[in-house]
Amino acid sequence: MSSERSSVKELAAVKGTHDILPGEVEVWQAVEASVVGMFGRYGYRELRAPVIEHTELFEKSTGETTDVVQKEMYTFIDKGGRSITLRPEYTPSVARAIVEHRLDLLGTPMRYFYIGPMFRYDKPQKGRYRQFHQIDIEVFGEKDPAIDAEIIEMADSMLVSLGVTGTETLVNSVGCRACRPAFSQALREAAGGVKDGLCGDCRRKMETNPLRIFDCKVEACREQAKVFPQITGFLCPECRDHFAGVRRYLDLYGVAYRVEPNLVRGLDYYTKTAFEVVRLDAGQQNAVLGGGRYDDMMKDFGGPDVCGIGFACGLERLIALVSVKPSPRRFVYVVHSGEAARAKAVELARIFRRGGVETLVEFAGRGFKSQFGRAAKLGAAWVLVVGEDEVAKGEFLLKDMATGTQTSGKAEDLLSSLQRPG
Ligand code: HAM
Repeated sequence: MSSERSSVKELAAVKGTHDILPGEVEVWQAVEASVVGMFGRYGYRELRAPVIEHTELFEKSTGETTDVVQKEMYTFIDKGGRSITLRPEYTPSVARAIVEHRLDLLGTPMRYFYIGPMFRYDKPQKGRYRQFHQIDIEVFGEKDPAIDAEIIEMADSMLVSLGVTGTETLVNSVGCRACRPAFSQALREAAGGVKDGLCGDCRRKMETNPLRIFDCKVEACREQAKVFPQITGFLCPECRDHFAGVRRYLDLYGVAYRVEPNLVRGLDYYTKTAFEVVRLDAGQQNAVLGGGRYDDMMKDFGGPDVCGIGFACGLERLIALVSVKPSPRRFVYVVHSGEAARAKAVELARIFRRGGVETLVEFAGRGFKSQFGRAAKLGAAWVLVVGEDEVAKGEFLLKDMATGTQTSGKAEDLLSSLQRPG
């Protein structure tokens, strides 16, 4: 460790990361509690995977030609010489866990959710961070297009329940291994025709995986990509029928959506359905959530032939849109005077806390007046007064700081008055 004192810069949070402080964290907790409740009603259970995985997991699934794998992964060699990556997304971890624990053999519904941090070394800006948080859900073993629509409907209900407005749901089919090669070839040809107008990255993508040109953040490339062929004309009968089924069920659910033929998503594993919910008023960082079907991932891992579908929602982007107002914290502040009263104050705090009431005890040993001042400054809802007389009588004074009302009574009676709602 350096003997020099750390500079403020060294003590600042790492670029692209952020603290979620009290005051803000209550909104996060309220949103998380609300979505966890909703996921439970759709049959999802939590699956917690590690933050680190073997780098190969993401190379194999997220895809070697994606920006995420090529440019954005936090990868390091551990002390045992293994290449380890801080997960940039959650889907591959869930698929790995299923194969590893053979959860497909349990016979229980394979519906999982998770909320936690992800890491991508991208250029930080509003709505784009290097450590961000995702709400992720995944379903396995369900082939029917009805499930695709159910997931999109759940995403829609989640946003409605949180009071989010001003978004649009985009859906598309990205085809499968049978029909995508012809589409890729058509894209390659189209990109070849405008090669000079594309960035170096896209010229490379043209050879390796032309679909990835659609993810380019360079405006000129995005403009060119607008007139490239669309996947819709290349879908095989199975993919076409599946997509028609998804739309039929979405209509049945009454979910508003728009078919966006240029929506291909930035990750390699998608097959058939791809969807996003985007903000109508934002620029490039407009995707609030995104997902799709990935029917080949498990097979590609050497696991069972089990299909998958899911979505992830960026919590930072969601929180920016919600209108959740957590109720203010109401706590008791215990003030006291004298040694016996201090001991009693600690005992009372324990009784109140066990009774479910948030309680803080003053420890600075000041006079009553300054203790009351501190209670008011901290925003206490009530002050419990414990003086020598109160200790002797076994009755204490509870002051409601908003109304000024004072009640005297035994600890149990004061506690039950606080436990009453309202
Ligand atoms: P994704 O589109 O890469 O998909 O990310 C999903 C969401 O995470 C985005 O819509 C956005 O809200 C948020 N997000 C992504 N990157 C950042 C960032 N740098 N800063 C802030 N928020 C960000 C996936 O990750 C797939 N695993 C989704 C999925 C689940 N597909 C199937 N199952």
